[in-house]
Amino acid sequence: MTSALLPVFQRAPVLFEYGEGAWLTASDGERYLDFGAGIAVNALGYSHPHLLAALERQGRKLWHLSNVYRIPEGERLAERLTSACFADVAFFANSGAEANECAIKIARRHQDACGRPERWRVITFTGAFHGRTLATMAAGGNPKYLEGFGPMTDGFDLCPLEDIEAVRASVGSQTAAIMVEPIQGESGIRPVSHTFLRQLRDLCDEQGLLLIFDEIQCGMGRTGHLFAHQELGVAPDVMTLAKGLGGGFPIGACLATTDAARGMMPGAHGSTFGGNPLAVAVANAVLDVVHDDSFLAEIRRKGNLLHTRLEEVAKRFPGLIAEVRGRGLMLGIRTSHPPHEIVEALRTQAKALTIAAADNVTRVLPPLIVTDEEIRLFAECCDAAFAYLSKRAA
Ligand SMILES: Cc1ncc(COP(=O)(O)O)c(C=O)c1O
Repeated sequence: MTSALLPVFQRAPVLFEYGEGAWLTASDGERYLDFGAGIAVNALGYSHPHLLAALERQGRKLWHLSNVYRIPEGERLAERLTSACFADVAFFANSGAEANECAIKIARRHQDACGRPERWRVITFTGAFHGRTLATMAAGGNPKYLEGFGPMTDGFDLCPLEDIEAVRASVGSQTAAIMVEPIQGESGIRPVSHTFLRQLRDLCDEQGLLLIFDEIQCGMGRTGHLFAHQELGVAPDVMTLAKGLGGGFPIGACLATTDAARGMMPGAHGSTFGGNPLAVAVANAVLDVVHDDSFLAEIRRKGNLLHTRLEEVAKRFPGLIAEVRGRGLMLGIRTSHPPHEIVEALRTQAKALTIAAADNVTRVLPPLIVTDEEIRLFAECCDAAFAYLSKRAA
């Protein structure tokens, strides 16, 4: 079918009409078990009553208000997010890439305000994904995304993960910050070791650099901790969030300590829609549910259960599945087949949805409200899809 949409996505040939919990229903009435959750966005699944009520309530009051006025729900969200972590202040954006742009600007302005304007470069890591704006593409450094767009935005120095000596050698007189995902998502669910994050923290402290954690995919409860780094006991100076923060309503956030953000004053940054009353009302409702010790403990328990079930599937298909990895409900299945084939087999043969990533990894990112029964069903779907693939290969 021809379409007037810019053809930048390869879309699956299925049309979803509505969703409830972890389930999507297509136009032909077929139900799909969604273990992709809009790439870790629909944290509370579809049509969550608490989110619907918050959206409806705010929708009747006020949809949009310029940031030249006070937005009390945004002030409340900033207060709640910052008091739950290392940060003191928050800026609201509309997406992950924008939140990262804010983090990069905060780092450059920090150094400028400290009398070191020559420090403006950011060290990032191979396999990283930080978004699709010109700067965040350069930060990720993936040649596939950069190709054909002319000179890459300058200011990013790529290092290999887990190699602190390489990072140390990359720090120069122009370095302002180090930016890292505590668990790389797009590159195939790669948790960064506690040791390496600690080494980055120490290096930043020693050299006067800011440490930025991109928790856009791994934050907001996904690992069974409100923020992934909290499990590891290494805090950054700046952290970015998006995806699960709005549970499906577009919102991003950049959180920072007062010291990190010392260069940001009125006029230094902005956004027309960022922190829109609807977005912050829904994000507050997401936080009502997710920022709860027993809810987070359940995510850890269900994450272990899902991991165990997937390990059992892996044992049944040793020729196809090489590894199950990840933390909490952020898991990846590394296979001998390209992940697009796994995603397609799961969708067409078992009516289950997952997301492809690099390194032959299929991402398994169910909504955080997933039930034990749905986890059991998903393992059955995997059995069916891998049985189909191994029969096809025979
Ligand atoms: C870790 C990480 N950072 C940044 C982004 C970009 O977010 P957005 O697509 O909302 O701009 C993503 C999106 O997948 C991500 O996973």
